[in-house]
Amino acid sequence: MRLLAIETSCDETSAAVIVDGRAVSTVVSSQIKIHAEYGGVVPELATREHLRNLQPVVREALEQADIAPTELDALAATRGPGLPPALMVGWKAAQSMAYALGIPLMGVNHVQAHLYSPWFVGDPPVADWNSFEPNLSLIVSGGHTLLVKVDAPLKHKILGSTQDDAAGECFDKVAKLLGLGYPGGPVVDRLAREGDPAAFDFARPMLNQPNDDFSFSGLKTSVRYFLEKHPELAADNARLPDLCASAQAAIVEVLAKKTLRAAKRERVKCLTLSGGVACNSELRNQLQSVCDENDFTLRLASSDLCTDNAAMIGLLGERMMEQGDDPASMEVDIHPGWAINA
Ligand code: KG4
Ligand code: ZN
Repeated sequence: MRLLAIETSCDETSAAVIVDGRAVSTVVSSQIKIHAEYGGVVPELATREHLRNLQPVVREALEQADIAPTELDALAATRGPGLPPALMVGWKAAQSMAYALGIPLMGVNHVQAHLYSPWFVGDPPVADWNSFEPNLSLIVSGGHTLLVKVDAPLKHKILGSTQDDAAGECFDKVAKLLGLGYPGGPVVDRLAREGDPAAFDFARPMLNQPNDDFSFSGLKTSVRYFLEKHPELAADNARLPDLCASAQAAIVEVLAKKTLRAAKRERVKCLTLSGGVACNSELRNQLQSVCDENDFTLRLASSDLCTDNAAMIGLLGERMMEQGDDPASMEVDIHPGWAINA
């Protein structure tokens, strides 16, 4: 099976070629620098960049894989969730190619692709479905914070989600309050390594509530009030590492503790982690400690697959085809608000 995958749901234009469960080429064109100036993703600019970059990105992925379009057996593309005009660029291009080449197109859910990315291992990534085990999965990105019970590939149930800001959004907003630019997560992560996580005590929202939901807007507000009360700290660069470490500790503690509690209750012994915030070194370390202490297995999505990419879309799309899911017809449209419930 030779499949071309396309991803344009947010600010990455990406294409990948999958050959029999292996992502033989992945090309990602990131727009981070363009949006950084505005402190967040601007949908119109994202769409313009996707329109500009999609063709060269697809061509390069095919060239790297040494495969001609006419040799493809199938296509997969992100149908949702995501920014509507951005999704439209990749989805309509994929539909046109599928029509012109007379091959099927699988519409893939972007968040489901994150969910299963811990099972795509190695470089280049290969789908490792043989080692699959039931798991409790934490998906943390700029747009989503979800706890999901996964019983089998493509058989899963959402247990909890954020009631307001996503974890990545919280990292980004805290970074903005500290004047650290966008996206803030990687900077907070880096500065926090030099800081004391116990220096300041920020709120741990919903940590002790008996459900699997999260809320991060309160934490952002608690950092804001704290900085308003202590302007001397906000102005002192030397205290930035302590502020970053303390805010990060609050986010990570809530994520790690609620994930562990859900896993114990659901009686699964495997945790998985994916999405952009899964790059966070403290979150990775804490989940590793939690798993070591409880004799759980931890499957972390590789850093390349944590941020948006077409390899995860193609590897999941291929699995959907193998399971007999229906390809999308030309009438099927994008699905910007697509939930992941199977
Ligand atoms: O999955 P992703 O690339 O895009 C979405 O689908 O949202 O995630 C982007 C998010 C941003 O909020 C960014 O700040 C965060 O992931 N992020 C991090 C780290 N690297 C990226 N957050 C914390 N620590 C990091 N190292
Ligand atoms: Zn994503």
